[in-house]
Amino acid sequence: TARVRAETYRPRLHFSPARNWINDPNGLIHHAGLWHLFFQYNPEGDVWGNMSWGHAVSSDLLHWQERPVAIPHDAQEMIFSGSVVYDEHNTSGLGTDGTPPLVAVYTSTLKDATGLQRQSLAYSTDAGETWTKYAGNPVLDIGSKEFRDPGVFWHEGSGRWVMAVALPIEHKIRFYASADLKSWEQLGDFGPTGATGGVWECPNLFPLGDRWVLLVSINPGGPAGGSATQYFTGTFDGRVFAADPGQGERWVDRGADCYAGITYNDAPGGRRVFVPWMNNWLYADRIPTSPWRGAMGFPRELSLRDGSLAQEPVPELTSLRTDPLLSLADTTVAEGTEELLADSGQFYELEAVLAPGSAATASFGIDVRAGGGQYTRIGYDTSAGELFIDRTASGAVDFDADFPGVHRAPVALPDGGLDLRILVDASSVEVYAAGGSVCLTDQIFPDPGARALRAHTSGGPMRITSLTAYGLKPVSVR
Ligand code: FRU
Repeated sequence: TARVRAETYRPRLHFSPARNWINDPNGLIHHAGLWHLFFQYNPEGDVWGNMSWGHAVSSDLLHWQERPVAIPHDAQEMIFSGSVVYDEHNTSGLGTDGTPPLVAVYTSTLKDATGLQRQSLAYSTDAGETWTKYAGNPVLDIGSKEFRDPGVFWHEGSGRWVMAVALPIEHKIRFYASADLKSWEQLGDFGPTGATGGVWECPNLFPLGDRWVLLVSINPGGPAGGSATQYFTGTFDGRVFAADPGQGERWVDRGADCYAGITYNDAPGGRRVFVPWMNNWLYADRIPTSPWRGAMGFPRELSLRDGSLAQEPVPELTSLRTDPLLSLADTTVAEGTEELLADSGQFYELEAVLAPGSAATASFGIDVRAGGGQYTRIGYDTSAGELFIDRTASGAVDFDADFPGVHRAPVALPDGGLDLRILVDASSVEVYAAGGSVCLTDQIFPDPGARALRAHTSGGPMRITSLTAYGLKPVSVR
């Protein structure tokens, strides 16, 4: 039926809106037992426009309930990306002592001919359900058309609110501090440095292990083309972010579809949970989904290992596991492709440790969502020393010339073989390799019937040290 057809690519493991366009996650905050996900949303259409903050909540980072639009655009302004903080001591005076507010700090993009971008506030005294714009908006205006995406958090050390905000064209992140969220003192700038091949957007600064991490999204100029998010480690004293020396370009994810990701404020237990928009500005408005367009990446737990970012799907994921669909150990696969499972379903989780079976093995790995000539190839290229996703034959690819491609990440082959953790959904694949030190996220649009899981190896055999495919309970059953 038309309805089934329309929902063909509906994510089963990821948040997607019932209908219409989304882009960046906004205002990620854990509050009163709920994970809030606000997001760039067009309430009136399935392409970018009328930007407003949509809203969804979850108690487990898995099952999301979409709520009414939180902050709608109006005749004067669009509501661009930003953050939400819990103003526990009512420093802003926007709540009452008995009811401290949640405060959203967002970019007002004026609809008039000036197109100015200025930082504004909205507040909620009902735990995020309804929002009121602050009458004194904007709270920060430098007369610029390119000044956006405030990332605000409480800085314990200096006892003030800190904002990181992008000057996109100048490739700078500017820092501000405030006692009350209303009046902001300018601190220093960071950048240009690292990757500067596109505009800088959506900064997010947070402590992780013994460092501070600054995420900066860049578009275009990402390693897979178009949009991507880079990161810097360093120190932050409440005024200045000083990057650790010798970092070069470092990427959160080298796939094509991981952009504008930020982390949760106030996550319990010191967790640092990251959620990206799983899309790319190159083709975001042409992906073949309906009646929605856009999804969030699966939430990731961040940590630092040897000074670099390590990521894994949030551990809540394992609670979705049903019986293993397939479990293999110590198996050698001969050159070519071999079907391991005829029907994996459209979504599942895969854990594997794979190794070249001979010195001549040139590339090896697995194909997911294979069938009818379609497949998405996840592999390791031994001579290049690169993990890759090849989505050139993944299904619908010709809606945009920039979509089909092979996306690569350099990673040393661990002695015991390459450990992979892969989340396959109706329209995406997320690959975490080498203990989560490398990630590749790509959208795919395979036919619903492309459900085989295959091994592939060229130049020589592949050794499957272990491989388990877990069936998962869907979190979305639209
Ligand atoms: C990033 C971005 C932000 C902006 C928002 C507008 O994807 O361009 O810089 O606030 O999207 O929707």
